[in-house]
Amino acid sequence: MPTAPRPGLTLRQGAEVYAPERLAPSVTSNPARLLRLARKGLARRGGRRAAGEHAGVHRRGAGAGAVRAPGRQQKVEVRRVRGGLELRIDGTQASVHRPGRSLTGVVWWALASPILLGPRRRRPRVLVLGLAAGSVARAVRALEPEAEIVGVELDPAVIRVARRRFDLDHLGVELVLGDALDHLRRERRLFDLVVEDLFIGTSRSVRKPEWLLDEGYPLIRRRLRREGYVVSNTIHEMPAIVRAMRSFGGRIVSLDVRGHWNRITVCGRDLPPPRALRRVLGSRAETARILPRVSLRSR
Ligand SMILES: C[S@@+](CC[C@H](N)C(=O)[O-])C[C@H]1O[C@@H](n2cnc3c(N)ncnc32)[C@H](O)[C@@H]1O
Repeated sequence: MPTAPRPGLTLRQGAEVYAPERLAPSVTSNPARLLRLARKGLARRGGRRAAGEHAGVHRRGAGAGAVRAPGRQQKVEVRRVRGGLELRIDGTQASVHRPGRSLTGVVWWALASPILLGPRRRRPRVLVLGLAAGSVARAVRALEPEAEIVGVELDPAVIRVARRRFDLDHLGVELVLGDALDHLRRERRLFDLVVEDLFIGTSRSVRKPEWLLDEGYPLIRRRLRREGYVVSNTIHEMPAIVRAMRSFGGRIVSLDVRGHWNRITVCGRDLPPPRALRRVLGSRAETARILPRVSLRSR
């Protein structure tokens, strides 16, 4: 189905007002400290190099412009790619936007694809943790033009670039500028789909925030409707994410992206087994395109 992006971006900061130049440290739960802690955690585990659409190959691109996020040290770059732009954060590919085309990449479409599974009784509500420049949100919008999408992003530099260069304002996303953990603690609404696409670190050490498994997933569970789905973009932490998802009940299926480390892991009470899920994804042109590039497995 063609995309009809709905104009208008609702802006919230720590669930209130967006003011990128004056980001209050309180809304981020001290991100610099968060990063230091997470880095320590990874150093102990010994990070392995990850490849993939969100943790990928370094390429030289024409017209790159870099912005340093104040107080956070994430390096935010925009590069030209065929037909559009890519956003790289600390050297890993976070988002791609090709104006006029919803086609981005397999990982983002796989992350958006569980929106096809929800019941059609009402307008679906989707929470995207780790919004960046909105590739997943754009894919959700293409699949479900009426969806209510709430996007949470920690880094104001990412959002500044996303608004200037990636047309974020026309995606109809309610933006929460702040820490996903803070937001999960505060959020009271229930969601049909939660997309967890949180990453920090460089391509050599890319990883999930430290709090995600112990505190994050139980909070995500509380925000999911009974018949809702959670989907995570996992790299080497898939077994741990699967363990966290077990407590949700229901089936877990991964969409393993060929040639990449990314394994998109979905969980839901009504989630069909891999073969039936493949049929659902094949029923829409946008998601049918990703099928040759993913293997579906029960976990
Ligand atoms: C792989 S990118 C997300 C890509 C995005 N989903 C898309 O479709 O374009 C990961 C994002 O998570 C954000 N992030 C990392 N830790 C966060 C946190 N604690 N709260 C909110 N966002 C966070 C990063 O700043 C980065 O923009």
